[in-house]
Amino acid sequence: MLAFDSSRTQGLTIPAERSAALRPRRLRRTAALRRMVRETALSPADFVAPLFVRHGRRQRIPIGAMPGQFQLSVDQLAAEAKEIAGLGVPAVILFGIPAAKDALGSDNYNPDGIVPQAIRAIKDAAPDLVVISDMCFCEYTNHGHCGVINMPGERHFHPQLPQGYLLDAPTRELLALASSVHAEAGADMIAPSGMVDGMVAAIRSGLDEAGFEHVAILSYAVKYASGFYGPFREAAESPPAFGDRSQYQMDPGNRREAFKEAALDAAEGADMLMVKPALPYLDILAALRELYPLPLAAYQVSGEYAMLHAAAANGWLDLRRCALESLTAIKRAGADMILTYFAKDAAKWSVEHRSREEYGSRD
Ligand code: PBG
Repeated sequence: MLAFDSSRTQGLTIPAERSAALRPRRLRRTAALRRMVRETALSPADFVAPLFVRHGRRQRIPIGAMPGQFQLSVDQLAAEAKEIAGLGVPAVILFGIPAAKDALGSDNYNPDGIVPQAIRAIKDAAPDLVVISDMCFCEYTNHGHCGVINMPGERHFHPQLPQGYLLDAPTRELLALASSVHAEAGADMIAPSGMVDGMVAAIRSGLDEAGFEHVAILSYAVKYASGFYGPFREAAESPPAFGDRSQYQMDPGNRREAFKEAALDAAEGADMLMVKPALPYLDILAALRELYPLPLAAYQVSGEYAMLHAAAANGWLDLRRCALESLTAIKRAGADMILTYFAKDAAKWSVEHRSREEYGSRD
């Protein structure tokens, strides 16, 4: 007897003498047959496009390790937003590069700061595009950490706590303030990415008190301290000036802790949860998919994008095929939406692929 001992395959107990007649290949014979039985297919609605915004005019500065990605000035955003919406991609997520940085990251809560300006420009040009604001201080602080840091001489200095320690309470206050500023500018959703304890609850009550009960929260609930963020830190000009982010982001070896982080953020009122990075953490995505009814996002981060481009530039991989295969794997593991620098390309490719049946391979 060939028995499949799993709740998913009950009833598939096959007498050995019959197994020779089972030919799963029958359903793979032609493109149309494969299409009929395909369990996971990509569509433009699966993607969220990240955008980097900076001051200046007519700026379109290429990001070295991320081919096809740019730091854009606000005047470039109308055309970009229309193009993204026109491809059927429902949302963008914004990262700001401020003109000046300080210890508290004050440009993040300046109503005329770079992200509020960008939100207004995008909402004018493409009102139906969902605008998500990445909510973190690392791009705005002169020390490059994701919140207020314990430093002698600074206003929030706390002598009992270690120097260089990220201070939760003042950081939460500033996250709540900055979230209301971005909501006021028109953001549909706030996406806290700093892994600061209590950030979701603080942002939810800050938004509600300021009158923005309709603005949703997409929490980067399960964010690992990952080497795959390397190219992003060049793009967002946000590397930490000392130490790294391991005191607040998760250790890559941890799985149970992911459930704890997700449970906390769900309880604090997150509308959606995120796992980040994506491909190296598919087990975490799949497990959270089973545990939580909330929509689940995955972030295919800068390093994942850079690796595929670098290999393709060397002629070692087929970019389109491997990008679509990675995105399909992320969706198959349980992501309802994928933040990806391939958003525009993948939206085009996935529509073409629908009509051509395959990812572009001939084998
Ligand atoms: C923090 C933030 C980071 C990314 C998204 N939001 C960087 C970090 O935590 O250091 C990484 C995204 C990527 O690598 O594509 N604001």
